[in-house]
Amino acid sequence: MKVLIVGGGGREHAIAECVAKSKRVDKLYCAPGNAGIEELAECVPISVMEFDQLADFVEANKIDFTIIGPDDPLVGGIVDVFEERGLRVFGPRKNAAIIEGSKAFSKDLMKKYQIPTASYETFDHAEDAMAYLEKSTFPIVLKADGLALGKGVLICNNLMEAKAGVKEIMLDKHFGNAGNKLVIEEFMTGREVSVLCFCDGTTILPMTSAQDHKRAKDGDQGLNTGGMGTFSPSPFYTKEFDEFCRKNIYQPTVDAMKAEGREFVGVLYCGLMLTPQGPKVVEYNARFGDPEAQVILPRMKNDIIDVMEACVDGRLAEIPLEFEDNAAVCVVLASNGYPEKYDKGFVIQGLESFSDKEDYFVFHAGTKKTDAGVVTNGGRVLGVTALGTDLKEARKKAYEATEWIQFENKYKRNDIGKAIM
Ligand code: AMP
Ligand code: GLY
Repeated sequence: MKVLIVGGGGREHAIAECVAKSKRVDKLYCAPGNAGIEELAECVPISVMEFDQLADFVEANKIDFTIIGPDDPLVGGIVDVFEERGLRVFGPRKNAAIIEGSKAFSKDLMKKYQIPTASYETFDHAEDAMAYLEKSTFPIVLKADGLALGKGVLICNNLMEAKAGVKEIMLDKHFGNAGNKLVIEEFMTGREVSVLCFCDGTTILPMTSAQDHKRAKDGDQGLNTGGMGTFSPSPFYTKEFDEFCRKNIYQPTVDAMKAEGREFVGVLYCGLMLTPQGPKVVEYNARFGDPEAQVILPRMKNDIIDVMEACVDGRLAEIPLEFEDNAAVCVVLASNGYPEKYDKGFVIQGLESFSDKEDYFVFHAGTKKTDAGVVTNGGRVLGVTALGTDLKEARKKAYEATEWIQFENKYKRNDIGKAIM
C-alpha cells in the first residue's frame, strides 16, 4: 500500500522509520518531510495546513492511508477534510482534537467526568483573573487556553509574577489568540510521565511510558521548550500507577469523549503527574509526543500500520500491542540559543555514522538538504536515540552517539535520564 505522513519533525521521522519497516507498505510519501525523512520517503513540498492540496495529492497518487503528525492540522480539522473526501486518515477529527486545542475544554471534561487533575478556574477577562489571584495561594499555574507550541504555561511563585503573567497572556497576547481565555490551575508536585495511547473511539491501548525534559538547561533550568530529550520506559511509572490510570484516567477519558459525541480516534497523549495524592492529568495532546515518539516507537514490536488501521476501523480490541523489554534514551541536539534566538544554516557532519548501526537512530527535526550538504534549519536539529538492555546502557550509548555529530553552535542537555541512574 501507499502511505503519506503529514509533518516534518523528529516525531514524523520516528513514525516514518516505523512505517518504512512495515511489510505492507511499498511506497511512502511525506509532506513536507525533512532531510532525514528523505532517506525513507518521497518528500513533497506541501505544508501541513494546506488541507485541500494534501487531499488532492493523495487522490492524484492513489495513496491508501494518511497519518497526521502535528497538532496544528489536527486541531484545524484536517481529518474532517480527508473524511469528507472519502480518504482514509489516522488522527482525531476536529471535535475530538479540541482535547489538546483548548485547555478550558479539557479541564471541564475532566471535572464533569471526575478524571483526576489539578483544580482550576477559567477566565475570559483579565480583570476577573487578577481579582481571583488576589485570593489565591502560590505557586500557581497560568495556562493560555489554545495552542502555544508548548510554551503557554507559566508557573508563578507570587502575586506579582502571576499578575504579570495574566497581562502577558491575556492583554499583551504573547501567545496570540491562544490567550483569549485563561486557565488558572493549582500547582502540583511529583514526577511527570507521558503515556501515549492508541484509541479507536471505544478501546484505548496505552503504549510503554516515557518521560520528557521540557526545560532548556540542565537541572530543569531555563525556558520551556518543545522537549530536550526523553527516556522510555519510566521506572517511576509502576504497575500500580498503570492499573490506577487505566481505570481512572485512560478509559474514562475515551468514554467521556464518546459520551460527548466526540469519539477520539488516534493517539491520545496523557501527560501525567505522579502526585502524593496519586496520578493526575497535567495535559492531553491529540497526537504522538515529540520527542516521546523517538523513544517509544523504536521499542514497538507491532506493525504500526496494523495498529493504526485497527484504530480507524474500530478494531483496536483485536490488537495485542507489544513493546520490547528494553529501554531507549533520546538526546536532542539543538541550536545554541533555542528556544529564543539562534542561528541556522550550519553544515552537519557525522550523520553517516548511524547508517550501519541497529541500536542507534538519528531523527531529523530541523534540517535541510543543500548543495553543501545537510544543514541545521531549526531550534531542535536532531534527536539522537539509542536502545539498550536497560536505561543505563541506553543512556550511555545515546550520549556516546551525540559525539558522532558535529555542527557549529551544537547544544544539548547533559542530564537527560540522569534521574534514573
Ligand atoms: P503543559 O503544556 O500543560 O504540559 O505544561 C508544561 C509544563 O508545565 C508541564 O510539563 C509541567 O512541568 C508544568 N505544569 C503544567 N501544569 C502544572 C501544574 N498544575 N502544576 C505543576 N506544574 C505544571
Ligand atoms: N514533548 C511534549 C509534546 O510533544 O507535547
